[in-house]
Amino acid sequence: MKNLKKIVNKKNTYFLILLIIGLIIGGFLEMVGIGILPAFVLLIARPNQINEIPYLSFLENFLSNLDKSDIILIFSILLIAFFTIKNIYFILLTYFESNILKSITLNNSTNLFKGYLRSPYLMFIEKNPSVFIRNLVETTEHVTSYIRSSILIIKEVIVVIFLFTLLLFSDFQVTIAIFSLLIVISSVFYLTVKKQVKKRGEISQNSRSDQIKLINQSIGSIKYLKISHNEEFFIKKFNNMLDSVLKQGVFIEILGRTPKLFLEVLAISSLLMVVGFFIYFDRSINDMLPFLTLLAVSVIRLVPSFNLITTNLTSCNFNFVAVKILQEEFEYIKKNNEKLIEYSKTNIENFKTKELSLNNVCFYYPGYKQSILKNISMKIEIGKTIAIVGPSGAGKSTLIDILLGLLEPTSGEIKINDKPIAENLKLWHKQIGFVPQDIYLNDDTIKSNIAFGQNENEIDENKVYEALRLSKLDEFVNKLPNNISTFIGNRGVKLSGGQLQRLGIARSLYKNPKVLLMDEATSSLDYETENEIIQSINNIKKNKTVIVIAHRQSTIRNSDIIYYLREGELIDQGNFEDLKKRNEKFFSQK
Ligand SMILES: Nc1ncnc2c1ncn2[C@@H]1O[C@H](COP(=O)(O)OP(=O)(O)O)[C@@H](O)[C@H]1O
Ligand SMILES: [Mg+2]
Repeated sequence: MKNLKKIVNKKNTYFLILLIIGLIIGGFLEMVGIGILPAFVLLIARPNQINEIPYLSFLENFLSNLDKSDIILIFSILLIAFFTIKNIYFILLTYFESNILKSITLNNSTNLFKGYLRSPYLMFIEKNPSVFIRNLVETTEHVTSYIRSSILIIKEVIVVIFLFTLLLFSDFQVTIAIFSLLIVISSVFYLTVKKQVKKRGEISQNSRSDQIKLINQSIGSIKYLKISHNEEFFIKKFNNMLDSVLKQGVFIEILGRTPKLFLEVLAISSLLMVVGFFIYFDRSINDMLPFLTLLAVSVIRLVPSFNLITTNLTSCNFNFVAVKILQEEFEYIKKNNEKLIEYSKTNIENFKTKELSLNNVCFYYPGYKQSILKNISMKIEIGKTIAIVGPSGAGKSTLIDILLGLLEPTSGEIKINDKPIAENLKLWHKQIGFVPQDIYLNDDTIKSNIAFGQNENEIDENKVYEALRLSKLDEFVNKLPNNISTFIGNRGVKLSGGQLQRLGIARSLYKNPKVLLMDEATSSLDYETENEIIQSINNIKKNKTVIVIAHRQSTIRNSDIIYYLREGELIDQGNFEDLKKRNEKFFSQK
């Protein structure tokens, strides 16, 4: 139970406690329901011996005044009324329980999603997206199943305790014997399968994330897959992974039905043994009729109880891995969020970026020995145009990620106006526009893609048109059937590479940023379009800072300062002409 602390919030813990109290009342009602039946049998068989049932003897005086048929009628009505009320109570309890479980799933999934989105960028590099999807969609469901099973166990244990007490008062030895047998059988079964089940729970979770990964990969590279004709390879793998997930389900399903079979046989045998025992010792059937009825009714109720307890213990074991995963995720997220809160404490009003500086910045990806950036120092004045050049793999994109505050330097500092960037991260992000190397567009309209993360009715269409004009997309968009309301397909499949890039640029311009960072954002464009975009950016430049990574000399020629990066080192810096003179080889290529 202590495992659930991070997973169930205060309110729901309180509700769960209430539910358990409700279950105790329910268990009591179950006991009464079962105890009433033998009384009823006795009443029909021998109405004047009602005092033989200990808990009904007080009725004797009252009943002796009525004739038999009246008594039976009254009892029948009471019986029906009681069972109706009892079952209505259980329906309400189920409703309450289902709602608590719904709320737990909702909270966990949403909190996990929130936590993920707030986590540092580095986490997204390290983990495969399939793990996020699995955790958000499936693991949280498994955790709820774990809680549902725990509730069921508690519920049945309560019923068993009540029945045990009831039977104990009727016949001590027989009760102890029957319960011992039931407990031993259930325990043996549970302990035998426990380890297997836990392992299979883990296999199920792993196979599920592999399966999601495979779906992403095969559909993500559909073009390549179609040309290379290895559909079979993916289909086979998919089949294997799903089979592995479902196999564990089948295992659990079979296990879920097995204990009942044993328990039933055992229960019937012990019941018959009791009868045989009574006959052997020559006790009259009439004497033992009420007790036998009680025993039979109890056993009929007890078998499913023990069955449910055993199978749900098994299911808890199966789902335990999910609880562990979710706990670890929440712990990880909490650690990061604490950092986030620390960061957002220092807020400077009227924040105005004047200068961005890197002092001896080094960067390693965690777990890698190779340093990606080595002792980079630079001062970027706001209002200037900056270019970063260098061969592929030099660390340009990594440097941009550091400038964006997405990655933290392993050593060294990055500061805005002499304050660590982390302290002003939100304000810094408010002022920048970023065009990444691989633009990810949503399967949505052009305007929603440009005004990323805004509702349709919040979008400022004038700004959308302005951004389109600056990125030279206005003509193209005007020809589309629904203009800016045209859907562009998943990841923008309905656009050309150049249009995609320009849409990425339009997106970054929409919020009119003071600083614009572009990571090879114009590389897919033809010379002329690129030039036009550079021109229009230059035109709006004035008080804008532009930081570009580019290969074409035409793009960087007019930059105020060019940084030349090679193998993570800052080799040279200066204006285009100087740099060209000093680094003939690199600059003469294009
Ligand atoms: N997630 C990562 N883990 C480990 N190494 C990485 C990761 N991403 C990039 N790298 C390595 O960092 C180096 C620089 O990459 P990058 O900054 O993208 O170069 P550029 O943008 O200049 O082409 C490359 O050698 C690349 O292999
Ligand atoms: Mg790059």
